[in-house]
Amino acid sequence: MAKRKRQPLAVPELIARKREGGKLDEQEIRDLIAGFMDGSVADYQMSALAMAVFFRGMDFDETVAMTLAIRDSGKVVSLDHIDAPKVDKHSTGGVGDKVSICLAPIVAACGVVVPMMSGRGLGHTGGTLDKLEAIPGFRVDLSVREFRAQLRKTGCALIGQTGDLAPADKRLYALRDVTGTVESIPLITSSILSKKLAEGIDALVLDVKVGRGAFMKTEPKARELARCLVRVGRLAGKRVSALLTDMNAPIGYTIGNALETTEALEVLHGQGPDDLRELTYELAGEMLRAAGMVKTKAQALRRVESAVLDGTALEKMQQIVDAQGGDPRVVEEPNRLAVARHRSTCVAASSGYVRGIGPLELGYASMGLGAGRSRAEEEVDSGAGIRLHVQVGDQVRVGDELATLYTSERARLRAATSRVATSFRIGKRRPLVRSRIIETIRR
Ligand code: URA
Repeated sequence: MAKRKRQPLAVPELIARKREGGKLDEQEIRDLIAGFMDGSVADYQMSALAMAVFFRGMDFDETVAMTLAIRDSGKVVSLDHIDAPKVDKHSTGGVGDKVSICLAPIVAACGVVVPMMSGRGLGHTGGTLDKLEAIPGFRVDLSVREFRAQLRKTGCALIGQTGDLAPADKRLYALRDVTGTVESIPLITSSILSKKLAEGIDALVLDVKVGRGAFMKTEPKARELARCLVRVGRLAGKRVSALLTDMNAPIGYTIGNALETTEALEVLHGQGPDDLRELTYELAGEMLRAAGMVKTKAQALRRVESAVLDGTALEKMQQIVDAQGGDPRVVEEPNRLAVARHRSTCVAASSGYVRGIGPLELGYASMGLGAGRSRAEEEVDSGAGIRLHVQVGDQVRVGDELATLYTSERARLRAATSRVATSFRIGKRRPLVRSRIIETIRR
């Protein structure tokens, strides 16, 4: 079929229409994204449009059109050569969130193909790719060919976003980041879904985080985002559901790359912290449901638990690490992963119950230790980070150790240690500790 020739776009008119609360049609949105990519729509025009969307929003039809236009700005991977259901998970980002590393092999061990594309850490949140690279030799930069071949062979691949998937998102996100237009639900929705839809999946489970360490600080806002993601994903033809989960304290006991990977591997050994295990099992169960492999939550949890207890999830992780060039001995012995040599500890200044552990403070402290980056091109220190010795609800006495900090550069310790100290709230009353899972959203 001959390609439709694009008419010159009346970009100022489209921006003005959105500014006045009007609606853009599918073709206009496609032309705007195509023009943005070929340079006929300038960055300042796209930024103005993003601001108009920020204030006026987009309805579901517009958001679907935006999602698909961004998806189609690059390659769309086909995984039709694989018969099994293909399901991925996406988290909106938190502190200590190492779930993907244990989740992917568990779900793959249950027979679902998991084409998982993840990101790098930026700012206070860590990135799965940096955590995986703490495993010596592990390659996250597979080509699309290698990715497809590995999925067929092992049922799971853990890789980075390739530059040719949804390139318009990368450019648009860079503009949103510097124009105060990140926190727009239709723009976040199209940004997240466009990348995921380009992976060739059948279904997607979202972990929408809410709380002090999350993008969305309040439950109503996080619920609105989750509902939008689910609805737009379904309108785009995929089975999408979301878990709303609590991000008011870091997940598990570790923040930092090697530390978090070790903790995630412990889950595959049937150990690890309760909250991390609960979150992983719930998301895994939802992925099995989305894949059509189970009908009830009880069935899903039984299946997930047995994949861990009978060692098949661990074996799957070994295959993945081996296939991606990593040292597979790390999977059997997670403590092989090195932590950095300079350390300090943070102790309780008063007695009582731990009532809060600030995720933002710890995320930034970990970044200050070298575990994260403030600019995309910076290197990370794999062994840097923080190990907590307590969780919210624990009782402590003056002088008890609350956390150990690790870094390869001694000079980084002092500032990070005082930051970590400010993250603990200790009080006389025992706090109510609730599950991390707040709600499941399927419509
Ligand atoms: N994550 C994304 O991928 N895009 C957004 O817009 C926000 C969070």
